[in-house]
Amino acid sequence: MSALPPDVDGWLTEAQAGRLDAAARTVGAGGRIVEIGSFRGRSTIVLARAAVDGVEVVAIDPHLGSDRGPQEIAANEALGEDDTRTFRNNLAQHGVLERVRHVRAMSSDAHDAVADPIDVLWVDGAHRYGPALADLRDWGARVRPGGRMLVHDAFSSVGVTLALFRGVVFSRRWRYVGRAGTLVEYVREPAGASSALRQVALLPWFAFNVVLKVLTLLKIRKGPWPH
Ligand SMILES: C[S@@+](CC[C@H](N)C(=O)[O-])C[C@H]1O[C@@H](n2cnc3c(N)ncnc32)[C@H](O)[C@@H]1O
Repeated sequence: MSALPPDVDGWLTEAQAGRLDAAARTVGAGGRIVEIGSFRGRSTIVLARAAVDGVEVVAIDPHLGSDRGPQEIAANEALGEDDTRTFRNNLAQHGVLERVRHVRAMSSDAHDAVADPIDVLWVDGAHRYGPALADLRDWGARVRPGGRMLVHDAFSSVGVTLALFRGVVFSRRWRYVGRAGTLVEYVREPAGASSALRQVALLPWFAFNVVLKVLTLLKIRKGPWPH
C-alpha cells in the first residue's frame, strides 16, 4: 500500500513518503516522533499511520499562513485558519486525528510543549536560513543517540541548504544516510569524512535545482518545482 495520502495537498512525493514511513517504523513503543511543519497533514498522516501503538506523534505548526510553501512567506490569517481546519479534517478522514498531538506554535516557541528525547525528527517548517538553522540545531540537539532526522527541500531551497551546511553537513554528530529527492536523512551517530563528502557531492545538483527555480520564476520554464 502506498504511504502517501494522495488526496491531501502538499509537496511530499511518493518516494519521500516511503522514506518517512520507514523512519517512523523504527520507533518502538514509548518513543516520540516530532514533525516541524505540518501544513494540511500530508506528512503527518504518513508518520501517524506508521507509528506503532505507544509512540507519541507531535505535529508542530502555528498555521499562521506564513512560510507555507514556495513563494508563500508572508503571514495570511485566512489561509492559516483554512490550513488548520483542513489539517484536522484530513487527519480525521485518514483515522489519525486522535493519534497526533498538534502544537499550534512556531517551532522556536514549542520546546516546552515536547518532552525529551526525540526518536525521529522531521523538519519541514520555515525554509528561510534563520528558522531552518534553529530547527536543525535546537531541535536536532534533542534527538537521542541513534535517532533520526529527516529534512525536506534540502539541496533545493537556498535557506535550508545553507542551514544544513552551517549546522549539519560537517557535524561529526550526524551521519548522512541518503535521500529521496530533496528529502535527506541522517542518523545521530558519529560521522566521518565520507558523510560530509557525500553531501558536498550534491552541490552540483543543488546548483541545478536553483537554476530550475530561477527559470520557473522567470516563466522561461514551466514546473515542476524541484522537491
Ligand atoms: C512546506 S509546509 C509543510 C508541508 C508538510 N510537511 C506536508 O507534508 O504537507 C511548511 C509548513 O511550515 C509551517 N511553518 C512556518 N513557520 C513555522 C515555524 N516557525 N514553526 C513550525 N512550522 C512553521 C507553515 O505553517 C507550513 O504549514
